[in-house]
Amino acid sequence: MDPAPVEGARSFQRPGEVYDRFMGRYSRALAPEFADAAGVAPGATALDVGCGPGALTGVLVERLGAPSVTAVDPSEPFVASCRARHPGVDVRVGRAEHLPVDDAAHDLALAQLVLHFTSDAAAAASEMRRAVRPGGAVAACVWDFSHGMEMLRLYWDSALAVDPDAPDEARTLRFGRAGEIVELFTAAGLVDVEETTLSVSSTYADVDELWSGFLAGIGPAGTHCLSLSDDDRARVRTELEERLGHPTESFTLGAVARCAVGRRPA
Ligand SMILES: C[S@@+](CC[C@H](N)C(=O)[O-])C[C@H]1O[C@@H](n2cnc3c(N)ncnc32)[C@H](O)[C@@H]1O
Repeated sequence: MDPAPVEGARSFQRPGEVYDRFMGRYSRALAPEFADAAGVAPGATALDVGCGPGALTGVLVERLGAPSVTAVDPSEPFVASCRARHPGVDVRVGRAEHLPVDDAAHDLALAQLVLHFTSDAAAAASEMRRAVRPGGAVAACVWDFSHGMEMLRLYWDSALAVDPDAPDEARTLRFGRAGEIVELFTAAGLVDVEETTLSVSSTYADVDELWSGFLAGIGPAGTHCLSLSDDDRARVRTELEERLGHPTESFTLGAVARCAVGRRPA
């Protein structure tokens, strides 16, 4: 196997517990909402595409049982965490653009917070369509980066105040705007595609808890945070604290995801 992680997985080479403190706290809350939107119900088999350490995988196991769940991710540390957390699930190293699964092997294929990291989203959508049986469901969700993901918005607004060239995810990444996943799915030949929004939140004891998530170096925000000089990083944190109004008590940040669900034609 190629030892270099694939492009989208490069900033996800961390243990699952570290991811949880940054993004997993949101994706665990999102997973049951997303599973409801996708129509995950007992008796089905499901493929979790870009499973990470297994936030959605866990919900699929609760609803379908471990033998009915297959999970795929290109990050080997995440695959190891997902396997350890969900014994009995078939967890494979692989990427959405070339899913290591047979044709029509599943009733559902779901990608939670993954499409924007793929190098070829059209190929990913087409592979998810191939992976489900005729009539099977394909679902994906991505944070609405411009307004609906307060934790990332706060980070990028603070970072832009210090570094105007900061790679704000709202500018660099796709599929967080209305209609984008629907368009992708329709072009991939899926039918009856519908979009919804899903809302979750996470509560932080203090700014240190929030800031430690960025220092974990995960995803575009964490990667940017660690790339800064010590002085600039301290300035970003100051900006962020100001934007939060210097909280003296716990505070809650909301997150909205765009979700689309379609079907492979029967
Ligand atoms: C934000 S995390 C989401 C993980 C998990 N689905 C969750 O909700 O917690 C993004 C995930 O996409 C994976 N990823 C990146 N590029 C990918 C690709 N080309 N195909 C499949 N997964 C990919 C990363 O390794 C990472 O696990």
